[in-house]
Amino acid sequence: MLNGKTALITGGTSGIGLATAKLLHANGAKVAITGRKPQELDGVREIIGTDVLTLQTDVLSRDALRMMASDVHSAFGALDIFFANAGVAYVTPLATTDEAQYDRLMDTNVKSVFFSIQAVEPFMREGGSIIVTTAWLNQVGVSGRAVLSASKAAVRSFVRTLSAELLARRIRVNAVSPGLIETPILRGVGQSESPGQTEAEFREYLADASKLIPVGRLGRPDEIAAAVLFLASDASSYMLGSEVVVDGGFAEL
Ligand SMILES: NC(=O)c1ccc[n+]([C@@H]2O[C@H](COP(=O)([O-])OP(=O)(O)OC[C@H]3O[C@@H](n4cnc5c(N)ncnc54)[C@H](OP(=O)(O)O)[C@@H]3O)[C@@H](O)[C@H]2O)c1
Repeated sequence: MLNGKTALITGGTSGIGLATAKLLHANGAKVAITGRKPQELDGVREIIGTDVLTLQTDVLSRDALRMMASDVHSAFGALDIFFANAGVAYVTPLATTDEAQYDRLMDTNVKSVFFSIQAVEPFMREGGSIIVTTAWLNQVGVSGRAVLSASKAAVRSFVRTLSAELLARRIRVNAVSPGLIETPILRGVGQSESPGQTEAEFREYLADASKLIPVGRLGRPDEIAAAVLFLASDASSYMLGSEVVVDGGFAEL
């Protein structure tokens, strides 16, 4: 489906990004991924293959984002697919959230998405596809998630505006909106809700969360990767500015 295409995924060392790297690679794309930890980056080459380009990049640094874009361009030439996926999640109750917590969430989930697209877009081929990871929180309001939800609403808005801005280059920008997906990020959310949470308490927290989802279980990273593959490929050629919701029916039923 993606033979001859090139793809870059931020936050590709874990969860949704890693599952997407696997799927795009299996579908014939040349894949580059980013993360911050060298050991995790090496692990991805062991899991997917030594032809995966791994880049140590902290998305909070604009210099690092520029270097990421130019390194991928040097290695692959023009880029067809950019998946801006790196993100963090934790609760931010109104009464107790401090400025540093607010800034870290917004800087990682919003500012880095904007500046990563700014860095990568000049190296993208006409007709390319940019996909941004939003969240189920764009469909519902949940106590304690004000900043996280606002960060995902902001990038939902980027998807519309940047689609219009990149129309002349025929670069489509769309979002994938995951529901609750079993990845390491949920541990951070659980621990920020109940500090000191044990493994058993974390499992109970996940079991309780599953009960709220119409299909009765959390999602798997590969179920989000399948939607990203669709948005990355020409199968979605008539879609731009949209958000594909993959949430086990959570928001609609
Ligand atoms: N899982 C869910 O339920 C869910 C629901 C809705 C939306 N999402 C969104 O899905 C995306 C992927 O999350 P996930 O669930 O797959 O979680 P994950 O397994 O924890 O993956 C997060 C990825 O982001 C990277 N990352 C975080 N901060 C970074 C930074 N400053 N610089 C570079 N990379 C950074 C991590 O890399 P390193 O830590 O190795 O650097 C990791 O590869 C996020 O945007 C998240 O908000 C997840």
